Amino acid sequence: MLKIDIISVQPQMFRGFLEESIAARAVKKGACEINIVDLREFGEGRWRKVDDKPYGGGPGMLMKCGPWFAAVESCLSDGLDGRARVVMTSPAGRKFTQRDAEAFAKERHIVFMCGHYEGFDARIETLATDMYSVGDFVMTGGELAAAAMTDAIVRLLPGVLGGGPAATASESFGAGGGLEAPQYTHPPEFRGMKVPEVLLSGDHRKIEAWKRSESSRLTAELRPDLKG
Ligand SMILES: C[S@@+](CC[C@H](N)C(=O)[O-])C[C@H]1O[C@@H](n2cnc3c(N)ncnc32)[C@H](O)[C@@H]1O
Repeated sequence: MLKIDIISVQPQMFRGFLEESIAARAVKKGACEINIVDLREFGEGRWRKVDDKPYGGGPGMLMKCGPWFAAVESCLSDGLDGRARVVMTSPAGRKFTQRDAEAFAKERHIVFMCGHYEGFDARIETLATDMYSVGDFVMTGGELAAAAMTDAIVRLLPGVLGGGPAATASESFGAGGGLEAPQYTHPPEFRGMKVPEVLLSGDHRKIEAWKRSESSRLTAELRPDLKG
């Protein structure tokens, strides 16, 4: 079973995520275990300090080495390891993709490191096996990035989604690598907009061919970078 530890200075941010999302379902189905680790438990001194002023000056505060080394080492001390992936969240990281989600879904133990303030003391990076970004923008902390990656990973675990592997294979960035074809549900006509005839035909061979061609059209139009 996949074990995910998420280390954060704002553990309360994960309350809704763990109670209501696909992550909650994955845990309930026994597909994974998700632990939120409060970095402050590893904080220093009476005030459980986890940050300090940067050397050389500059705005804001940086996360300190001591609490981070203690927190990650505690996550790695349960005997599962040797092969844990320790993921630092950072705008400087590699952009997380569906291929990464697929690879992580085959792991046994993932530890997410959520930064905060101005980020991490550069030495903390030596703890990480991977560094990932969720896009070219700066957020206040790594919590939403870790939650986004966790969601993308756990929905791929066997038994979590109703439709099984077929439910994710035909999605965007799935087996074909492109975008999913447009989809429709009832009614067949809404405010003059009709569902394409072929989808009402019951001819599954034609429907599959239409989906493939629409997927190629949409990918070329909206995300030409995904092909070739
Ligand atoms: C305010 S940011 C620090 C930004 C840093 N000073 C910089 O300029 O790159 C605080 C933390 O939020 C997280 N974070 C912010 N944007 C992110 C992104 N696009 N992807 C992943 N994590 C992000 C990281 O953990 C980061 O350490």
